[in-house]
Amino acid sequence: MHVRSWLAARRRPVLTAAASLGVVAALATMTPSSAAPGGDDGTVSPNIVGGTTAAQGEFPWMVRLSMGCGGAMYTEQIVLTAAHCVDGSGPDTSITATYGVVDLQSSSRVTRTSTQVYANPSYGSGGGDWALVKLSSPISGATLLPIATSTANDNGTFTIVGWGAASEGGGQQRYQRKATVPFVSDSDCVAAYQPLVNAGQYDELSPGVEICAGYSQGGVDTCQGDSGGPMVKRDGAGNWIQVGIVSHGYGCARAGYPGVYAQVSALAGDIAAQAAALGGTTAPGGTSFSNNATVAIPDNGAAVTSTVQVTGVSGKTSVQAGVDIAHTYRGDLVVTVVSPSGQSFVVSNKSGGSADNIVQTYPLTFSGSANGTWTLRVQDTAAQDTGSIRGFKLTF
Ligand code: ARG
Repeated sequence: MHVRSWLAARRRPVLTAAASLGVVAALATMTPSSAAPGGDDGTVSPNIVGGTTAAQGEFPWMVRLSMGCGGAMYTEQIVLTAAHCVDGSGPDTSITATYGVVDLQSSSRVTRTSTQVYANPSYGSGGGDWALVKLSSPISGATLLPIATSTANDNGTFTIVGWGAASEGGGQQRYQRKATVPFVSDSDCVAAYQPLVNAGQYDELSPGVEICAGYSQGGVDTCQGDSGGPMVKRDGAGNWIQVGIVSHGYGCARAGYPGVYAQVSALAGDIAAQAAALGGTTAPGGTSFSNNATVAIPDNGAAVTSTVQVTGVSGKTSVQAGVDIAHTYRGDLVVTVVSPSGQSFVVSNKSGGSADNIVQTYPLTFSGSANGTWTLRVQDTAAQDTGSIRGFKLTF
């Protein structure tokens, strides 16, 4: 039986994830080994820490792993997570992966059991906190999260997502949460942790394979149970790309201590090679085409459209249609996806009542060529509430 990941963390004997639960008490009592985990010093604000509940379909590639970690779909059969979440490499049927839901108790969740794990063998010697979990069978049609292969996106503002504690020492969350945090430079991050390192209370950072993020005043951060989950950003084309893997930090959301993430761009080559060695279906990332133009939806009026041109796709009969509509009453909307050959798919028909927004990925099976113009058509059929199309994306 696994202990929760943060209790299983090995790399930082003084202040690993394990010890970080005891940090609050340790500061007060100076007896870290006897400090009871789970205390909340009341100085941090609630949520992922400092976040809000994510919408269903907003981060379709998110995975919850049963040992108490996050992850992201790298291929239809491989989840990318943190090395400190797993017990080394080899056959492993102990992990359950949950996909496709914000609410972990939703009956529409998709689950798979692990069959094999690959943990970065150099993790313990500063080589990067990443691991791959191979699933017993593919999640066909899963939305995959491409990983950063250059440092082009290692800057700016990042989005963090997970079911981890909403405050330092707090419990795990049933509903997925999200927040945004700004990039922190390697030099600022190393400087922030140096006093703790010098005091023997924290392991040296590995800036070559780590990327930090957080506000200097704290308040927003990943926390225990978010480990292994992705830190993402929209790339130049508007598509999510994974730049980090939740790894560690001093407590959660404390002022002056950024969250520390495995730097995916520095590890991408090894991740891809080991995923290929693990085998299974579907190349990483898929091929995506998107239109992120904003199109106003007139109140109780004519249908409006957003189109995407697809080229160079062959041999496909299924697609993930990603729809992002901001609206204050989704029950007003009829949403249709039309394929290049004119096949219509009504993906939402005045459903969802008074709830806001439709941010969802719909798996569609189509006939004819994938190439040509795909159309998202949205009509508001009732007076009062309005909104706009924010994005339409097709992943093959
Ligand atoms: N190691 C933690 C886990 O296992 C994640 C810690 C992230 N901490 C932070 N302050 N960003 O879940």
